[in-house]
Amino acid sequence: MLEKIKHAAAFIDGRTSGFRPEVGIILGTGLGGLVDHIAIRHSIEYADIPDFPVSTVEGHKGRLIFGELGGRRIVAMQGRFHYYEGYTPQQVVFPVRVMKFLGIARLFVSNASGGTNPTFRVGDLMVINDHINLIPNPLIGPNIEELGPRFPDMKGAYDPSLIALATEIAGKEGIKLQYGCYVGLTGPTFETPQEYHYVRAIGGDAVGMSTTPEIIAARHMGIPCFGVSIITDLASDDSVSHEVVQEQGRRAEKEMTRLFIGMLAEL
Ligand code: HPA
Repeated sequence: MLEKIKHAAAFIDGRTSGFRPEVGIILGTGLGGLVDHIAIRHSIEYADIPDFPVSTVEGHKGRLIFGELGGRRIVAMQGRFHYYEGYTPQQVVFPVRVMKFLGIARLFVSNASGGTNPTFRVGDLMVINDHINLIPNPLIGPNIEELGPRFPDMKGAYDPSLIALATEIAGKEGIKLQYGCYVGLTGPTFETPQEYHYVRAIGGDAVGMSTTPEIIAARHMGIPCFGVSIITDLASDDSVSHEVVQEQGRRAEKEMTRLFIGMLAEL
């Protein structure tokens, strides 16, 4: 696995003339519009990168974008990999591993989720301050010591100083933020009414099908993380669909983009 990670990173280095991103960004469903703000230097299709998984979900483009955003050198994943697509947990986090070898010192993640906290509204931005991972853990299997410890501490995985920065930027920009715990389930089914109750009962404010594996891998490698979840639907809604999630994601992505750019500029 380590050789594959290094090989993919070396391939990318060759294609980007050694561009060194400082921040990695993973864009969730309907949230790819942030890319329009990047001063793009290089773009690489996932399909071209050795051992990279290829995204299959509608609404997820599959490419790595290198450039400047908010005055920082960044690499953005336009389209991510989900466990429900049939990838192994290790494949899901492969790009995060590769980004570490490209040099990222921080990881920003976005996703779409269903709100289980009754005070949330569709379109809210929830800063993730903790998670409950109910997707098979990507660290199961032999530990690669060069990447990180066997038993990583998950306290503080969502970096408190990045959360504080988000609060400061949101205040300046007039962006309303919610804060809460994201529960990662496998999907691909949306939750039954009782499953939404369950998520709430165990301490979840929002539920989705991504993010927790990537945060675990990043934390394993000592990368400070920041995550925002767009509340695209509510547990109390009568129904939910991928189309609703995409549409609501697109509506809220402008605010998320402003938040990310504002934060990057202050890092
Ligand atoms: N449940 C799970 N995943 C989701 C949801 C949801 O309600 N909304 C967006 N992604």
